[in-house]
Amino acid sequence: MRSKDKMISGFSKLGKREKIAWLLKHFFTSNPIEVTREFASFWHTNEEAQNMFDGISENTITNFYMPFGVAPNFLIDGKLYCVPMVIEESSVVAAASSGAKFWLNRGGFHTDIVSTIKSGHVHFMWPGEPYKMFQFFDSIRADLRFGVKDMTCNMEKRGGGVKTIELVHCPEIEEGYYQIKVDFETCDAMGANFINSVLEEFGSILKEKAEAYFEGEDKVVNVIMAILSNYTPECLVRAWVECPIEELGNFPNDISAKEFAYKFNQAIHIARNDHFRATTHNKGIFNGIDAVVIATGNDFRAIEACGHAYAARDGQYRSLSQCTIEDGILRFSIEIPLAIGTIGGLTKIHPLARRSLELLGNPSAEELMSIVASAGLAQNFAAVRSLVTTGIQKGHMKMHLNNILSHFAATPKEREYAVAHFSDKLISFTAVREFLTEYRSQQIAW
Ligand code: MEV
Repeated sequence: MRSKDKMISGFSKLGKREKIAWLLKHFFTSNPIEVTREFASFWHTNEEAQNMFDGISENTITNFYMPFGVAPNFLIDGKLYCVPMVIEESSVVAAASSGAKFWLNRGGFHTDIVSTIKSGHVHFMWPGEPYKMFQFFDSIRADLRFGVKDMTCNMEKRGGGVKTIELVHCPEIEEGYYQIKVDFETCDAMGANFINSVLEEFGSILKEKAEAYFEGEDKVVNVIMAILSNYTPECLVRAWVECPIEELGNFPNDISAKEFAYKFNQAIHIARNDHFRATTHNKGIFNGIDAVVIATGNDFRAIEACGHAYAARDGQYRSLSQCTIEDGILRFSIEIPLAIGTIGGLTKIHPLARRSLELLGNPSAEELMSIVASAGLAQNFAAVRSLVTTGIQKGHMKMHLNNILSHFAATPKEREYAVAHFSDKLISFTAVREFLTEYRSQQIAW
């Protein structure tokens, strides 16, 4: 088949079955009936629910399921939570639960919201003398605010809106390049649409006012773009756990509390200073964070992009968590920007996002920031605890064995025998297949 045959216009107009039929003709090699049946088996039986899922995205042919689990025993700022987590990686929910349980009797998680300010920019070019742009900009400040008052009045009623508007000249990036930097408070909403709408309006007002104010070439402000920034270093939460070293208890492999504290602290120190380790370390943090962010209908790509940029804010990519040992107290903390919301967007559209928020007691955005940061810290604690005691593979392989057994549709009895058999053996796909083949042949022989 020529690659031209694989091109199509009007794909989005096709119905689901037509879309699948077209894909089958041009891309799939498996049995068309089986492929269609498999895609269709994941369609929602409730038409209204299916329409909702189709409405969230485009060109949908089916739904891609993800496991929805919960991590109980999260004591955060004195309140107990059962935290919803949507994630495909086995062991993440178990690790978060285990981290939460560990700290449950040691004071739990403590958090502090530093600020919830988010920013966006109108990026523009202007050829004139910079001082003239600053003069002009001061003269239109009130017009900018007035021009968006219909958009901001509701947010202002809730205590939010446009906080500051600043003109920034950036000749170091390019001669004639400026930004209008705007700070926003969006209360319980993530506020992306609100921010972008205000910024686009600012861009239009800027252009229009410049044309009336300046003469000649200076009349033309070239607005390049107007968009929020996903880098939100001020929308910041801190979470920490702490306890005297002797209260840490004992650890597997006869590791004492003191030895554990030393190794744990060293592990965090390494992640603070070595970017190879920091990347994996932060990935572990985002295992916990993304799972809650997804479960609550927030944008995990924005959270990840911002978190990694924040981790590199001094020029070196570092761990987002820190550890100190002072006066015999181990303190483990995280500082992370989290621009998330509990109203608007998917939080209200996706029924399970709504249930997640209900499970958390319908928190404010600030409370959700505390929960998400604590989930990241719990996850990180559990991962590093495993790394410096038993090693990570022991727990991972237990989960891996489960997955392989599911792949081979193992019965409960077969699972029981397999778990016992592999308790002291290396687990691999081949080893499990051989074990089951052998076990099943013996069953038949008997
Ligand atoms: C695996 O998904 C995450 C870990 O690698 C994190 C870490 O190494 O800290 C276990």
